[in-house]
Amino acid sequence: MTAPVARIVDLGPDDDLFPAWCQVWAAAQHDDRPDDPPRPAREHVALGRELVAPGGSRDGLHRAAVADGAVVGALRVLLPLKDNTSVAYLDVAVHPGHRRRGLGTALLADGRAHAGECDRTLLIAEVDEASPASPGRAFAERHGWTCDLVETRRDLVLPVDGQRLAALEAEAARTGGSYEIVTWRDRTPDPLLEDRALLERRMTTDAPHGDLPVEEEEWDGDRIREYERSHVARGRAVLSAGAVTGDGRLVAFTDLQVPLEQPERAHQGGTLVLREHRGHRLGARVKAAVLRDLAVRFPEVRRISTYNSDSNTPMVAVNEALGFRPAGHLSAWSLRI
Ligand SMILES: CC(C)(COP(=O)(O)OP(=O)(O)OC[C@H]1O[C@@H](n2cnc3c(N)ncnc32)[C@H](O)[C@@H]1OP(=O)(O)O)[C@@H](O)C(=O)NCCC(=O)NCCS
Repeated sequence: MTAPVARIVDLGPDDDLFPAWCQVWAAAQHDDRPDDPPRPAREHVALGRELVAPGGSRDGLHRAAVADGAVVGALRVLLPLKDNTSVAYLDVAVHPGHRRRGLGTALLADGRAHAGECDRTLLIAEVDEASPASPGRAFAERHGWTCDLVETRRDLVLPVDGQRLAALEAEAARTGGSYEIVTWRDRTPDPLLEDRALLERRMTTDAPHGDLPVEEEEWDGDRIREYERSHVARGRAVLSAGAVTGDGRLVAFTDLQVPLEQPERAHQGGTLVLREHRGHRLGARVKAAVLRDLAVRFPEVRRISTYNSDSNTPMVAVNEALGFRPAGHLSAWSLRI
């Protein structure tokens, strides 16, 4: 490995070099998955502004590796403030034309040093593994990180097969229990807000996390509102469906995110049914409901991607029944410092 001839500089979301920072991410994403449109720059800018705004649930920074005036590598460090306060989330990307020259290593070392200065003792990073020969996996292994979780990505091509959806709904209705299925866009209805926060909290422990050493996240109504505002600022519509009991408690939810600049590619957000309400096919019912809502509001969506641990057999079974098919992996890695 030759020594990197780049300097690493701090960047804010409104700095002149920030669009080039976003382009490095776009080039790296395109290299991994040429069929996916890279994340729009607006998403990075909105997250950057969120980090510098006071009172949020996370802190963080962006740094760029700059060589001959051009941004060739990108680092983002995210520091949770309300829970998991020993953790730093690191993202490193190097432009495909500048790899294997030590830039990734230099950015990683920089992020690690910053995390240490902020008293963080656990680093976590994700690697998109479109194919088994992913550079991110080799890089993480080379730096002594441990792979704690592998999720399979599944894609659903839309429009969803009407017969499949109707069969799933009919089967779910037979075991259904007395729940009302409701849908909303972007903003959880006020009467459901505290229950939605409980579901989000459970999401961080009930969904399989492999060996990833993370603790339950602290969620309340204010944090749900912060999360919702953050999606709007990033230019995403969020369609949700929930199951509500006779006495008005929200006990299951699912979220779908649609990037408004690229609505042809949507992403599945979280889906959770509270333990006490499992066995009534609520997971299938909320997913079917949100797909129906999506078809009405955003008929231009062509594909939805979702990520599940293989051990999450109930969720994988629902997704397979809907027609989702494997499309690579996403792995989560950690390193204690
Ligand atoms: C992973 C990534 C950041 C590496 O950047 P880089 O500048 O090429 O990394 P380095 O030059 O510092 O590589 C350090 C070592 O990692 C290993 N490595 C990196 N890329 C590799 C590849 N494609 N195949 C095999 N080993 C690889 C090698 O051991 C390498 O040392 P060597 O070149 O002396 O053999 C870059 O490929 C990338 O941006 N990938 C997409 C985003 C990503 O997966 N990020 C990692 C998770 S945060």
